[in-house]
Amino acid sequence: MNLKLFAAIAVALTTLTINPGWADEAPAVDRSSTGGAQTLEDILARQEQLKMDERFRSENLGNAANATPITAPLGTLGGLSNADIYRAIRYDKIALTTQARGPAADVLIQDGGMPWYKLRQGPMINYGGGALLAMLALLLVFYLVRGKIRIEGGPAGTTIERFKAIERFGHWLLAGSFIALGITGLITLMGRKLLLPLLGPEVFAALAAGSKWIHNNIAWAFMLGLVLTFCLWVVHNIPGKLDWQWLKAGGGIFSRSHPSAKKFNAGQKIVFWTVMLLGFSVSLSGLSLLFPFELHMFAKTFALINSLLGTDLPTVLTPHEEMQYANLWHSIVAFVLMVAIIAHIYIGTVGMEGAYDAMGSGRVDLEWARQHHDLWVAEVEAKPGKGGST
Ligand code: HEM
Repeated sequence: MNLKLFAAIAVALTTLTINPGWADEAPAVDRSSTGGAQTLEDILARQEQLKMDERFRSENLGNAANATPITAPLGTLGGLSNADIYRAIRYDKIALTTQARGPAADVLIQDGGMPWYKLRQGPMINYGGGALLAMLALLLVFYLVRGKIRIEGGPAGTTIERFKAIERFGHWLLAGSFIALGITGLITLMGRKLLLPLLGPEVFAALAAGSKWIHNNIAWAFMLGLVLTFCLWVVHNIPGKLDWQWLKAGGGIFSRSHPSAKKFNAGQKIVFWTVMLLGFSVSLSGLSLLFPFELHMFAKTFALINSLLGTDLPTVLTPHEEMQYANLWHSIVAFVLMVAIIAHIYIGTVGMEGAYDAMGSGRVDLEWARQHHDLWVAEVEAKPGKGGST
């Protein structure tokens, strides 16, 4: 599957799941009692984010025949009421002139604010936080069932160089910045709901402002770490036949056998590509949030998805809606990454004997290396003087 299609499907699936309003149609409304104007049912349906036919409002812009054209600067209202004019502004049917300058200054009313806010404060916190807790619980169960993955027969006592200083620098730059971004991101998303009542407004305000500052600035270190580790490790992460065999053997996790692997096994390649692709996506949406209204990506992505999948996603978005989508997508991708990385941290620390040394000192026990990366050890040993055992 090519990359664009994969991204398109991922965006479509997520968008459809996070915006159930697009799935449910609002029931037909009888507006005869209001002379065609909006009723309580309309307002309630909109609050529930049901899909509505808005033409009764968007096409009800006053008696244009009797009106001075509302586009004329300083023209009189003619046959148009204030409500007509506000509707025209809401549906972007009027050419606005404003003294305010800026990329979104000519949008006075946009409807996406409340649905975005509700999604962010509700499902995003509940499902995202729930997924993190579920992964922690799963790892606890795994630990209790499988225990620590030991070096069979015990360590050899001699070591072999696994990662050079530059590789470890790249890894820790990526990991350190990711952890800082994860914690400060969670404070930004969940703090108002979970921490404000505990800490009070003064302490929470300082914490939230500090988190925002750290998040905005550490993002650059993450992007640098991402590029560096990509350049250093991409050649070792190209999928091959061996990976299929490794996956079929379940990585040997339960059978306690050790399928053959080169420098990175299939499980690690999955981690690598997850980090690279989602890291790239979270960086792009993050940049769009860091430079508001400058990077518009969602209308174009939705148009691409519509052409590929025949969906009916909106392709005309106000600058604010672009930001709202960027914000939601940023959080979703970050949660998926955090869930994956929690599992990665587990296996790199308490989950497997001897693994941490690879990123700690850069040297691993020879027996560990033979059991998990036999073909890589053979390659290194075939090159005398290149990271051989000591
Ligand atoms: C405390 C946190 C972390 C620990 C202890 C840790 C540990 C490790 C270890 C030991 C390895 C080498 C495994 C081997 O020798 O084969 C590794 C590899 C790697 N780490 Fe981490 N890591 C951490 C956080 C992160 C984070 C936050 C990211 C990315 C956002 C990350 C991305 C990677 C990648 C892409 C690899 C190479 C592929 C792989 O081995 O799975 N790590 N890590």
